[in-house]
Amino acid sequence: MESYFPEEIIEEIKEKNDVVDVIGQYLQLKSIGTSHKALCPFHNEKTPSFNVSREKQFFKCFGCGEGGDVIGFVMKMENLDFIEAVKLLAHRANIDIEFNAPKEEMKQKYNQQKKYHMINRLAGRYFYNNLTQRSNTALNYFKQRGLNIKIIKSFGLGYSLNNWNDLLNYLKKEGYSEKDIEESGLIVKSKNKDSYYDRFRNRIMFPIFDIRGNVIGFGGRVMDDSLPKYLNSPETKLFNKSETLYGLNIARKNIVDEQVILVEGYMDVIALHQEEFKNAVATLGTSLTKGHAILLKKYCKEVVICFDGDSAGVKATLRSIEILKDTGLNIKVLILPNKMDPDDYIKKMGKIVFKEAIEKAEGYIDYKIHLAQQQFASDSVEDKVKLGKSVAKILKEVKSPIEQEAYIKKIETKIGISKDAIMAEIYGRKRPSNIDNNKYSSNYKRNNKYIESVPIIEQKGHIIAEKQLIKYMLTNPQSISSVFQRITLDDFVLEEHRIIVEYTLNHADDSEKLEKIIDYLPHITKEIKDILNIDMKEMNINNALEKYKVDITKYQLLYKRNQLKQQQSQIIANENLNKEEVEKQLLKLGMEMMSINIELQKLQTEERREHNE
Ligand code: UTP
Ligand code: MN
Repeated sequence: MESYFPEEIIEEIKEKNDVVDVIGQYLQLKSIGTSHKALCPFHNEKTPSFNVSREKQFFKCFGCGEGGDVIGFVMKMENLDFIEAVKLLAHRANIDIEFNAPKEEMKQKYNQQKKYHMINRLAGRYFYNNLTQRSNTALNYFKQRGLNIKIIKSFGLGYSLNNWNDLLNYLKKEGYSEKDIEESGLIVKSKNKDSYYDRFRNRIMFPIFDIRGNVIGFGGRVMDDSLPKYLNSPETKLFNKSETLYGLNIARKNIVDEQVILVEGYMDVIALHQEEFKNAVATLGTSLTKGHAILLKKYCKEVVICFDGDSAGVKATLRSIEILKDTGLNIKVLILPNKMDPDDYIKKMGKIVFKEAIEKAEGYIDYKIHLAQQQFASDSVEDKVKLGKSVAKILKEVKSPIEQEAYIKKIETKIGISKDAIMAEIYGRKRPSNIDNNKYSSNYKRNNKYIESVPIIEQKGHIIAEKQLIKYMLTNPQSISSVFQRITLDDFVLEEHRIIVEYTLNHADDSEKLEKIIDYLPHITKEIKDILNIDMKEMNINNALEKYKVDITKYQLLYKRNQLKQQQSQIIANENLNKEEVEKQLLKLGMEMMSINIELQKLQTEERREHNE
């Protein structure tokens, strides 16, 4: 039974489960010199005679004689059989034993895969020979669609004869069983009879390659208008559509500027490659999947989506953007006019125009705005509102505030909606109506970002301090000028608070206006009431300011720590950094993090001390 797991795996499991550590999880071990002692769990005793040796990776009880290695210990302790104990320890050491399947099975799988590759390759060669030697119709079809012999050869294009078992007979003659050919996806079992027939008949054939250039399936197109236009190999052990991109085996060696052009069809890929855009790839009649996106991310940094210029193409583009976005790839969109596909377009316009179009392709945010403008094109109020709302929704996705601002500036005049209105829509808040918001508008934004990136619980103390300070100023207007010698308007984190403070500042001499603050700032009644309801008792301004400053420092430290945490995960996720660089940068962040933690601790001790006094 022990031979169920290969020896190397057992060794690895033992290596990664130190006998002292494992037993130490069960028993109270006492180290005496180099050995470790405990009361034996397998018999009753008062003085320890159970010994564990790290050096020998062995345990032995001199009382009852029980002994063995780490697996033996777990078997006995947990009452498990050998296999169960091995599994448990593998799990403890994070070793995937399912993956480390028995050797024999792996070998079999490998051989089977090789066989399927061979069958597909033979079929591809067979289709190619049909095309070049046995069918003028098919070859003429390709020529009439503008393909030259060179490109036909490099994509291995072919033709399946108009015959029910031409390929089947050929592959059988080559020594393959019907079962193997069926599992390769090339033949189909007939419904009621116990016989097989060729899946592809009278179609021009597009072999589909994996990254390493193995043929793993086919697409076959009719040469007239009959349906289905394309027939594809079914999913097989080799062929997984959601993780295969047509043309990527060639494109990956020809990536320019770290860019890939993503198109819809076989013919699009081939037409572009013929015109020297060898970085074009396509999905295989399915929509783009997460698997495709991950695959692309391995080979490029930028994807130009260039789907058909019809409404289905637009839908597919939007779907693909959503999937690609998560990978961090730079996404651009090239829109083709008049329902053309890339194949039509490059034939009609030539490669120079196509190259320009690729260079001018817009980022996906611009593309989405563009679509919104088309959708809500009229000058009616209704359309303007809808346009503003959808633009705000699009821009909400833009994470960088600088980028966001740049987009807003760019479209402000184009769509005739003011920057402030778009900002307000994005952040879902009312615009301050009766103060000059230009003066502070950039600060509003910056501070909003603060708020968003610090967890709610961590803000609270600071917000409360802000409210207390405002209450103090409202009830002691004579103190306002002295308060503002020590802090500035910008220090207030909440936008509503800044509005209130600014109002207070402007009307410090007008007690009537201060009293009626609620009437003057109707859009933030709730916040004002909150502040007025604070019970201040005998609060002293110096204490209030001190507390406020401590809280804001704490707040800023927490904010910084949050940012460092984000940077850490970015570094870890960054595939472009090698291990050394990652470690170096993490170390640097770790040091910064440590000094922040020290500062925070200091603040807390101070606070505690004050509290106790
Ligand atoms: P299209 O209908 O746009 O075809 O389908 P195409 O690639 O432009 O081909 P031509 O120019 O008419 O020869 C785009 C892709 O969708 C898949 C194929 O991968 C095709 O290349 N498709 C389409 C199918 O799998 N089955 C179909 O019946 C149609
Ligand atoms: Mn086409």
